[in-house]
Amino acid sequence: METQLKGRDFITLQEWTKDEIDTLLEVSFDLKRKFAMGEPTPYLRDKTAFLMFFEQSTRTRNSMEAGLAQLGGHANFLDTSTMQVSHGEVAKDTGIILGSYGHAIACRNCVWEIGNKYLRSLANHAKVPVMNLQCDLYHPMQGIADLMTIKEKKKKTDNLKVSIIWAYATSHKKPISVPLTQALLFPRYGMDVTLAYPEGYEMPEWVIEQARENAEKNNGTFKITHDQDEAYREADIVIPKNWGSWVTNQDDAVIDDLLESNKHWKCTEERMAMAADDVMYMHALPADRGNEVEDSVIDGEHSIVFTEAENRLHTAKAVMTLTMGGK
Ligand code: CP
Repeated sequence: METQLKGRDFITLQEWTKDEIDTLLEVSFDLKRKFAMGEPTPYLRDKTAFLMFFEQSTRTRNSMEAGLAQLGGHANFLDTSTMQVSHGEVAKDTGIILGSYGHAIACRNCVWEIGNKYLRSLANHAKVPVMNLQCDLYHPMQGIADLMTIKEKKKKTDNLKVSIIWAYATSHKKPISVPLTQALLFPRYGMDVTLAYPEGYEMPEWVIEQARENAEKNNGTFKITHDQDEAYREADIVIPKNWGSWVTNQDDAVIDDLLESNKHWKCTEERMAMAADDVMYMHALPADRGNEVEDSVIDGEHSIVFTEAENRLHTAKAVMTLTMGGK
């Protein structure tokens, strides 16, 4: 168990060893049990984290705010449109100052080719841990909750056939950070990962190289297909979710010809029937119901989306406890 995590930034799970991620999981399960038992967990008494949001959030904001309250501390929500960053104050100055007021800074900034750089700049200058609440590249808070949920529900990770599948959506042009994080993380846990998408929705080439390397080192596999039915066939876990065509088209516009030509990329009961009998349906949420997925699937017996969402609380508490607390 790797326990020396106080002060560590949490920007991508790729920078955390498997031993460190295993510690996060162990602490998450312990915190989940204690929450169910009503046992107090005041590991971060009198500690403050600043939560900077450039975009909307339901799960991430509330799991962090509720989580830190349950740990005995205080999370200060910051809508960045009300901060001086909206007048151009740089990440360096914000990081130094907020770091001097409390014990951690957490930030969501999903702007393509800006978000991760902003997080890195905060982390380079703040003397407190910086947590990524989703950027243009990574969503480690979601990734660790997904891994916890898979371990909880499947009791194993080795040789699970997991398919990360692009799906049609019109709600907003979604970042690539959730599928990217899953594509890097799951092969490290021995899973057989398929990434399925219509041409035009590619991940950056370095992601594919890293995912393949992670698979090779950890007895997993990683493959790409442009045939969604192939991805559903015999899958143990399916994760159909939209992401935008950021690599080839940085335009924020949601609807374009490429998107509209791929309406048939949808998780349906018919496709779920191609998967293993005990297949599980996952989605980070919010889901674009009726477009990404049929209601009968997301509300059906194979769906584990609400456990996945609940686990955001327990894993967020574990990340905060280990990086802000401890020795
Ligand atoms: N999955 C997720 O990050 O949800 P929110 O955007 O609501 O935080």
